[in-house]
Amino acid sequence: MIVIWEVTRACALVCRHCRADSQPVGHPDQLTTEEGKALLDDVAAFGRPQPIVILTGGDAFERPDLHELISHGAGLGLHMALSPSVTPKLTHDAVRQMHAAGANSMSLSLDGAVAATHDGFRGVPGVFEATLEAARWIRADQIRLQVNTTVTRHTVVELPAMLPIMLDLDVSLWSLFFLVPTGAASSCRPSTLRRSRTSCTGWPTSRARWRSRPPRRRSTAVSWSSGPAAGRRGSTPTTRSTAATPTGG
Ligand SMILES: C[S@@+](CC[C@H](N)C(=O)[O-])C[C@H]1O[C@@H](n2cnc3c(N)ncnc32)[C@H](O)[C@@H]1O
Ligand code: SF4
Repeated sequence: MIVIWEVTRACALVCRHCRADSQPVGHPDQLTTEEGKALLDDVAAFGRPQPIVILTGGDAFERPDLHELISHGAGLGLHMALSPSVTPKLTHDAVRQMHAAGANSMSLSLDGAVAATHDGFRGVPGVFEATLEAARWIRADQIRLQVNTTVTRHTVVELPAMLPIMLDLDVSLWSLFFLVPTGAASSCRPSTLRRSRTSCTGWPTSRARWRSRPPRRRSTAVSWSSGPAAGRRGSTPTTRSTAATPTGG
């Protein structure tokens, strides 16, 4: 069994397709630390084989109790996985701390083969390079890595060029998502592959439609202007895992 828990709606990014309709702060009714631990207790009560629990959001790193929640779940014998957003909160130290707490696998989003595509999709310059950097940290620390890609008519043409990136990163699973019209994407059509359909990425062909929608807030909290953690690259792994357990919602 796989349990995907969106621990918060808070996220510093403002992707136009965001199913969580991310907000600068968490919802007032989001589970408290103790409520979250009780949820994990309930999940563990399902027994063997122990479920996989994926902590995601929003951005799981927006919760100050993330380490405590992972540690609690791992202590119960649950297989804990983490699916964070790529923001300056995602440092190599943070990866190591969550791994030490018991997160044995992580997933990151990559929505294009080049920075212009991915950064345009995520709305923040620098997030492409920061994602590759974080992926290398994760693999250098021998943590299983899943990469999630949202397929739209803008990203589908780059899938072949993304394959070498996946091989270089030695990912355990490359998971393709099709747009679900919910959250910030609720007014979009389910498929963004057809030319005549509304896109949720804000590319030139769809700008006219986007002008008629209320703009999402601008992200002011995210910037890698000084470079994404320059000088802290991990080594490229040389072994390949064949396991394919999902680790990102
Ligand atoms: C909810 S996110 C969690 C991790 C993190 N917030 C992120 O976006 O990378 C998990 C995956 O769902 C994708 N996603 C978000 N909104 C979506 C939507 N409306 N339809 C399909 N996939 C979506 C994201 O691009 C990401 O790859
Ligand atoms: S990274 Fe993007 S898709 Fe993920 S929660 Fe934040 S705004 Fe939403």
